[in-house]
Amino acid sequence: MHLNGSKYGCGEGQCGACTVLMDDKAIRSCITPVESVAGGRITTIEGLAKNGRLHPLQRAFLEADAMQCGYCTPGMIMSGVAFLSRNPDPDDREIIRFMEGNICRCGTYTRIVKAIHIAAKAMQEEGK
Ligand code: FES
Ligand code: FES
Repeated sequence: MHLNGSKYGCGEGQCGACTVLMDDKAIRSCITPVESVAGGRITTIEGLAKNGRLHPLQRAFLEADAMQCGYCTPGMIMSGVAFLSRNPDPDDREIIRFMEGNICRCGTYTRIVKAIHIAAKAMQEEGK
């Protein structure tokens, strides 16, 4: 389908690189049988931008420079989007607790937390 943003990492549900949204809930695509998502609304990283404008969390990742190699980034962003839809004004502990299943081998965690804070503020200001 030419959607190559989602990444294959561990293949065992342990790293989060393959995270996509099903009906706005973050799921690990590597361990999700296709038949179990029949009828569901699937969003990959390619589906976040609207009308040519990046999602606030995508913009925040750029602003916070929250990536190095970028391999974990699509999964991080999809998990972060799911998290912010449920917790629009999180503190550091809540972010870390939710995101701890997403692994970044480059160790950009502090910048990822910063990006989620930036996006939360932007989304509140934009009324999303
Ligand atoms: S590749 Fe799916 S969780 Fe690691
Ligand atoms: S930026 Fe390299 S794995 Fe996260």
